[in-house]
Amino acid sequence: MMPSPAVVLGVGGGIAAYKACELLRRFTESGHAVTVVPTAAALRFVGEPTWAALSGRPVATEVWDRVHEVPHVRIGQHADLVVVAPATADLLARAAHGLADDLLTNTLLTARCPVVLAPAMHTEMWEHPATRENVATLRRRGAYVIEPAVGRLTGVDTGKGRLPEPAAIFEYCRALLARGGAEPDLAGLYVVVSAGGTREPIDPVRFIGNRSSGKQGYALAATAAARGARVTLIAANTSLPDPAGVDVMRVSTTAQLRDAVLEAARTADAVVMAAAVADFRPAEPAVAKIKKTDDASAPDIKLVQNPHVLRELGHSRARRGQTVVGFAAETGDAHGTWLEHGRAKLAKYGVDLLVVNEVGENLTFGADHSAAVVIGADGSQEQVPDGPKERLADVIWDRVLKARSRTD
Ligand code: CTP
Repeated sequence: MMPSPAVVLGVGGGIAAYKACELLRRFTESGHAVTVVPTAAALRFVGEPTWAALSGRPVATEVWDRVHEVPHVRIGQHADLVVVAPATADLLARAAHGLADDLLTNTLLTARCPVVLAPAMHTEMWEHPATRENVATLRRRGAYVIEPAVGRLTGVDTGKGRLPEPAAIFEYCRALLARGGAEPDLAGLYVVVSAGGTREPIDPVRFIGNRSSGKQGYALAATAAARGARVTLIAANTSLPDPAGVDVMRVSTTAQLRDAVLEAARTADAVVMAAAVADFRPAEPAVAKIKKTDDASAPDIKLVQNPHVLRELGHSRARRGQTVVGFAAETGDAHGTWLEHGRAKLAKYGVDLLVVNEVGENLTFGADHSAAVVIGADGSQEQVPDGPKERLADVIWDRVLKARSRTD
């Protein structure tokens, strides 16, 4: 068995350093050897014994510790992944300028493996032009700088700047390691993914919905982020944790999803409609809860058809060269095979790629794996055998890149 990749966990001096303890645990529990390199400021938040105990290894904090082992170059050279969480504004600035004034910044200069920086700071610091430029510089050089999450910050403030949840940072790193250090081939692209299932209100407490878990859309968003894309995930009624580095917008009805998707699509390089969008909605949802009557009668609920978002995207591209991807679940019938129906749908909606699942009695919801065929407007067809949803997501992004290279 191959040894698990060696990870360096750099910890910056921010209050979110306590969350890095859980991140460390996740790495060690999944078999990684982790060398923790806290900055001097980080040690004021979480002490050296905690890092040593959780990693099971000595913790080097200074270039002057164990000098004969030349730690200032060895640690970076031997890493398969360096992840810095939290990365403070100061640390980002030092990294962007190539300073080497402590062990962590030395490590960042000597690492030749993927480097993930998970910033955490107050919104004002994150939005300051100095930080924006430092982040842009680091990204241009190939570092993976995760977008901070929005939410409660230290004190009473809320806004963008929170460290994403340790589980999400871990998943991000896992996806990166699974790619074996491959280049961030989606860097510079802005992609929009819809996920989950829309709900159409019947009255204030009831709705028409579907059983989509949103897992495929989340896998698409997470893999795109791990490949360096800027990602907006439009999530309809999901209960999954936000993937790290992804802007998540929550919607419920088809009308809300449509507004959010069309707005984001104006500047997107690719839009992937993985959401299960309700085809129909009650024409006039009741404003008050519908009551039962004593005569055992039931209300007639008149339905109207929803707009078809994918068709709108396919037929009126917001940007030249934008790639539009849809999903379809098909069955064969007297008029054709499931794949023939898929091809007809691809043409009807005017999309570049359609991910077609054959459905039947084995129709499953909420599974972690799926099989599909990805068909292209260029006549291409790629079978993706049953496997993790991340694998299907990677194939979809590969096809998106191919489709783009043809239109460039
Ligand atoms: N979709 C959409 N807007 C809708 C309905 C679906 O954008 N109002 C998108 C889904 O996100 C998915 C694709 O269209 O990408 C599904 O295609 P569709 O033909 O609507 O699927 P079904 O409803 O399963 O097809 P059918 O009407 O043939 O049963």
